[in-house]
Amino acid sequence: MNETEALKQRIDRLRRERKAVILAHNYELGEIQDIADFCGDSLELSVKAAETAAEVIVFCGVRFMAETAKILSPDKTVLLPVEHAPCEMADMAEAAALREYKARHPEALAVCYVNTTAAVKAECDWCVTSANAVRIVGSLPEERPILFVPDRNLGSYCAEQTGRNLILWEGFCPVHERMTPEQVERRRREYPEAEVLMHPEAPAATVALADRALSTGGMLRYVRESNRREFIIATELGILHRLAAESPDKKLIPLTEQAICPWMKVIRLADVCRALETMQFPIELDEELRRRAELPIRRMLEFR
Ligand code: 13P
Ligand code: SF4
Repeated sequence: MNETEALKQRIDRLRRERKAVILAHNYELGEIQDIADFCGDSLELSVKAAETAAEVIVFCGVRFMAETAKILSPDKTVLLPVEHAPCEMADMAEAAALREYKARHPEALAVCYVNTTAAVKAECDWCVTSANAVRIVGSLPEERPILFVPDRNLGSYCAEQTGRNLILWEGFCPVHERMTPEQVERRRREYPEAEVLMHPEAPAATVALADRALSTGGMLRYVRESNRREFIIATELGILHRLAAESPDKKLIPLTEQAICPWMKVIRLADVCRALETMQFPIELDEELRRRAELPIRRMLEFR
């Protein structure tokens, strides 16, 4: 048996013994997606974390995702298999700055993208993901201004789709920020039959050229169910692993080979195995902060 197979067997034994579930984001390395009990986008992973009967959640993603799982399942042990896996966009918003901002706009509703720290969520009225942001923002009372934090690109996409005037934070995802209209035009010339699916974290001028703006889970579903044969995929490259496995008959063209989030690639099989052996690195949150951060997420999960 080779080393990888031995690791996988150890992980399987430990996950049974620990009564653990392994959740993985769609951008994680293929080796991690393949051993996960469930892969998904941020919304799907939050729902799983809230509903699982497992005692331990091993979260393969970036820190805010594991924190969200802990906020929703405080009695469970939530492990991030590496000590350091930040989301660079989430770290562009700090709770103290948000509090100051809110003090200047006391009439505003604060809406946070799920890509935020627990401390920022604790300051907010609503949480959204890329899968539900437009519907939730569109449902908020018309007379209240909306402060949207931290993604200025997802925020401006919501503003454009809903006709609402949002106050935007100046955050962005460094991976999607670099997606340009020129890249879309070039790919369309190369693949004139292909449909362009784009994550709404890309800049507004780039998203405007896409056929659809979708969350990663939305892209997987769309490609699976579509009769079209070719798709230009404008998001982080990790998604191609599942896309290719679920839709082997489709041609998938990345918008750019540069779209790699380094923090979504740090967790390896050996880290998952070590996490299950040593119960490292548990997410710990102050209970009062956790309770405040739970409110906007519960509102989101109950939103229909
Ligand atoms: P999704 O919720 O669409 O999976 O996006 C998460 C993310 O971090 C995108 O960069
Ligand atoms: Fe954060 Fe961007 Fe990485 Fe997603 S791709 S985790 S938004 S840095």
